[in-house]
Amino acid sequence: APAPVICIDGPTASGKGTVATLVAQRLGFALLDSGALYRIAGLAASRAGIALQADQADRIAALIATLHIVFAPDQRVLLNGEDISLAIRTEEAGMNASRVSAFPAVRQALLQWQRDFRRLPGLVADGRDMGTVIFPDAPLKVFLSASAECRAQRRFKQLIDKGLSANMHDLLADLQARDARDTQRSASPLQPAEDALHWDNNAERTVEQAVQQVLSWWQQRQ
Ligand code: C5P
Repeated sequence: APAPVICIDGPTASGKGTVATLVAQRLGFALLDSGALYRIAGLAASRAGIALQADQADRIAALIATLHIVFAPDQRVLLNGEDISLAIRTEEAGMNASRVSAFPAVRQALLQWQRDFRRLPGLVADGRDMGTVIFPDAPLKVFLSASAECRAQRRFKQLIDKGLSANMHDLLADLQARDARDTQRSASPLQPAEDALHWDNNAERTVEQAVQQVLSWWQQRQ
């Protein structure tokens, strides 16, 4: 049987990255932060001077095929040897990721990359289409949601903690623009898999509660 996958999908800043990281640690599973791949694609394309528009999608896809990407065990992300961990976490990088992620050629270029993360004893994969497109056979699919205000607040805190600057008003506007693009695009739009279990990750709920819920769903499947 293929290695098991736990998919954790949801909108931006729903807390899926934090929950996925902790669940992977507790289970000793590998982790796939698929959003980072789209962020890297957006960064590489804009650095190469390619306009992030649909008629450039094939060029961006060709560029992706040449990239050397390393997810180091210490959480650093390397692009062609350069540490880009911070560069891909800015709001601009998130917006660029959202732009390039709407192009089917870009999604196709990253497809096998993502599937190659699957390994024993298991994988926790977070993103938008882990359960619907990348790992449709995953034994556990979780969909996290939270209000836009709650997510903007969460993103604000993340940025400040990283020493980056942030403004609540702009963050909320960016997040709503990103939500709209991610849910309305025709290529793999953000939507829960039919067999996803839902968790409302609003402000009253702690990270630990979400982690415990996912672990308990996982145990029920053993
Ligand atoms: O999750 P994160 O905010 O890092 O993702 C950045 C952007 O990449 C998202 O706004 C979304 O447009 C895109 N994305 C995607 N499919 C994924 C993961 C991320 O389209 N599986």
